[in-house]
Amino acid sequence: MSVRKLAAGNWKMNGDLAALEQLDAMVEAAEDASCAVLICPPAVLIHPMVARVAAGDLHVGGQDCHAAASGAHTGDIAAAQLRDAGATHVILGHSERRADHGETDATVRAKAEAALAAGLTAIVCLGETEAERDAGRTLDVIAGQLDGSLPAGATAANTVIAYEPVWAIGTGRTPTDDQIAEVHALLRTRLSERLPDGASVSLLYGGSVKPSNAAQIFAIAHVNGALVGGASLKAEDFVPIIRALDAAQG
Ligand code: PGA
Repeated sequence: MSVRKLAAGNWKMNGDLAALEQLDAMVEAAEDASCAVLICPPAVLIHPMVARVAAGDLHVGGQDCHAAASGAHTGDIAAAQLRDAGATHVILGHSERRADHGETDATVRAKAEAALAAGLTAIVCLGETEAERDAGRTLDVIAGQLDGSLPAGATAANTVIAYEPVWAIGTGRTPTDDQIAEVHALLRTRLSERLPDGASVSLLYGGSVKPSNAAQIFAIAHVNGALVGGASLKAEDFVPIIRALDAAQG
């Protein structure tokens, strides 16, 4: 069964209007590639980014949304508002949000369900801490996060799972190929058990992906793309990652 490949960039709290010039080369690479390409900028840049890439193949997404459809939630953004601004995807349950904003699996699931209701693709992030890995608990932690965060109504068309070990994010450290393979195999098995089309859900790896390690990571079984932080900010870094994913088998 074919699985959609996705190169996703998470700009986090970086970038401004001037940074949108980085998009031109990314759009060109996306047009040439068979994989999907997505950038999730800070919310204020979603609409200008959508306007800039209107004719291109590059998708634009949010980094979070609220679980409620609308209402008195100062500073928050509803999924339908992201959609209205032109977003097609939203990252949910990133470890920085789990840590900085106390998001639990239940919060992430509620947000993901709101995203699906608004017609967005939910990118649900999971990952163990270094202490959890050292304690030999990685697979238990990942299975628990998947079971707790997966939205009702999830399908391969509306949900993407990103495995991002917390200790690999922004650190320059990456897991071994075997460590990534082990977690992705678990995700594939569990999704196949839970969803009729679980075998086709795109599984991303995230955490210190860069041009020099992308091809090796994309060669690992059940890795269908990447969620890229720092290396998605500049075209000179992200374009080679898009090309590596395009060239990868699978
Ligand atoms: P990084 O971030 O690529 O800068 O490690 C990945 C992420 O947090 O999604």
